[in-house]
Amino acid sequence: MHRRGRIEHEFDIDAAKYTSSLHFDKEILESVILVNIAHVRLLEKAGIIPSELAEKAERYLQEMLAKPPSLDDPRYEDVHMVIEAELTKYVPQIGASLALGKSRNDAVVTAIKLRLKERLLSFHKNCLTFCDAVLRKALAESETIFPVYTHLQRAAPATFGFVMHSYAVRLIKALQHLKVVYELSDESPLGSAAVAGTSVPLDREYSASLLGFSRISQNALESTTSRDFIIAALSCLTLIALILSSLSEELVIFSSEEFALIEFPEEFSATSSIMPQKRNPVVVEISRTKLAELLGLLTSTTVMAARQASGYSLDLQQITPKLWQALEIMEETLHMMTKLIPSLKINKDRCMAACSPPTGIVEVANYLSLKHKIPFRDAHAFAGRISRLLYEGGLNENLLQKTKAEFNTNIPLTLDELMNLMEPKRVVHSYMTVGSANPELVRHAVKDSMMNLEEEKRWVRNKMVNLEYALNKLKGQSCLRKTNNSK
Ligand code: ARG
Repeated sequence: MHRRGRIEHEFDIDAAKYTSSLHFDKEILESVILVNIAHVRLLEKAGIIPSELAEKAERYLQEMLAKPPSLDDPRYEDVHMVIEAELTKYVPQIGASLALGKSRNDAVVTAIKLRLKERLLSFHKNCLTFCDAVLRKALAESETIFPVYTHLQRAAPATFGFVMHSYAVRLIKALQHLKVVYELSDESPLGSAAVAGTSVPLDREYSASLLGFSRISQNALESTTSRDFIIAALSCLTLIALILSSLSEELVIFSSEEFALIEFPEEFSATSSIMPQKRNPVVVEISRTKLAELLGLLTSTTVMAARQASGYSLDLQQITPKLWQALEIMEETLHMMTKLIPSLKINKDRCMAACSPPTGIVEVANYLSLKHKIPFRDAHAFAGRISRLLYEGGLNENLLQKTKAEFNTNIPLTLDELMNLMEPKRVVHSYMTVGSANPELVRHAVKDSMMNLEEEKRWVRNKMVNLEYALNKLKGQSCLRKTNNSK
C-alpha cells in the first residue's frame, strides 16, 4: 500500500512481517511523533508548508500522543509509516510532505536517541537509589566484623560495611561511563535525511533545540549509519551487570551453609520442591546470571553493527530492540537488588569465627616490625610458624616461647598478648591507611560517597529538568495551538 516508487507489486505479507519493526517500535512511538512535530515546525519555518496546515497537522500529531495509533498492521513496515499514514488520513497535504527532507533513516536514529536519553536518566536515577541502599547498609554495618578473601581464602578481618562500600564505589565509577553515553546520545541527527543530507533548507539547530538535544550531529553518513552510541550504552549496562553479578555471586557463596556468613530473609529465598530443608538464594542466582544475557545482547549487536558498509541498511533495525531489552533486564535487576540489600542479615558469630586467629596474623608480623624493628621477612616467617601451630590447635605459652627462641627473637610477647594482637575488632581498628577497612575511615568514606551521590543526583535532576522542559514545551505549544484553533 505504501510501495509506489520503483516497485509495482504488493509486498508479500510474510516478507512484510519478517522485516517489520512494528513489534518493537512501541518503545519509540512517542519519540517518533515528537520528531514529526519538530519536522512539521521546520517545514513551516522554512516557508515550505503554510501555517494553518502545519497547525492542523500538529494538532493531529498531538492527539496521537494522547491516543497512540495501533502498531498491529505489518503492511506498514514500521512506526514511521504508521504515523505518516495516520496523518495523511486527516491532513493529506502534510502527510504527503512529511518525508520532505526527512527519511526514516534520520528519523529513527533521532527517536532512538531521544528515548534513550529518557531511559538513561531514569536508569541512572535508579542506580542512585540502589547505591543509596548500599551505602546505608555500609554505614549500618560499619562495625560488623566480616572476613575478606583473596583466592577465596580468608585473608584479613574487615567489616561488612567495608565490603558494601566497595560495591558502591564500583557503581559510582560505572555511572561516569553512563554519563558519557548520555552525552554521546545528546545530539540530533535530524536533517541528515537518508544518508547525505538534503537540499531542503532545514534549520537543524532549531529542530535539535525543539527536541531537547544540546547539539546537532556533524556528518549525515555517520549519524544515519552509526549505532556506536548503542554499543556504548550496552557496554556500560554490561559493566553495571558485571558489578551486580559479582555482588550476587558473593551473596550466593556467603549465604551457603558452608560459609553461612549472611542470611537472606525468607521473602527472598525459595525452597526445593523435594528437599524441604533447602533455602535457596534464587533472587541472587538470577541477578548473577543476568550478566550473561547482557553479554549476549552486547555481542549480537556488535556483530550486527560490524557487518555494515556505511549507509543505512535494515540490519541496523535489529540492533534497537536489544537496547531496550538490556535496559529492561537491568531495571528489574536493580529493583530486586535495591529491595534485597537492606534485609541482608549478618551471622555475627560465624563472621567473628572466620576472622579469629590466625586470620589477622599479618598484624603480628606488622607489630614485630614496627614495634621491635624485626625485618618484616623474619617477622613474617615467625608469624607463619605461629599460624601453623594455631591451625594444628597446638599453640600454648610454652610452644610460643620455644618458637621465639627458635627464631632468635627475645621480645616480650605472651600468648595472651599475641592472641590480642589478632583480635578481629582490634585489627580492623588498627588499620591506618585511607581506604582501609577501619570502621571510622569507612564511615568517612561512605559519607564522601554519599556526597558523590548528591553530585550525581544533581546531574540527573538537571538533565531531566532540561529534557522535560524542552519536550513539554514542544507538547505544550501543540496544546496551545489546539486551544487557539478550537476557538
Ligand atoms: N524501521 C527502521 C528501523 O528501525 C526504520 C528505518 C527504515 N529505513 C529504511 N530505509 N527501510 O531502523
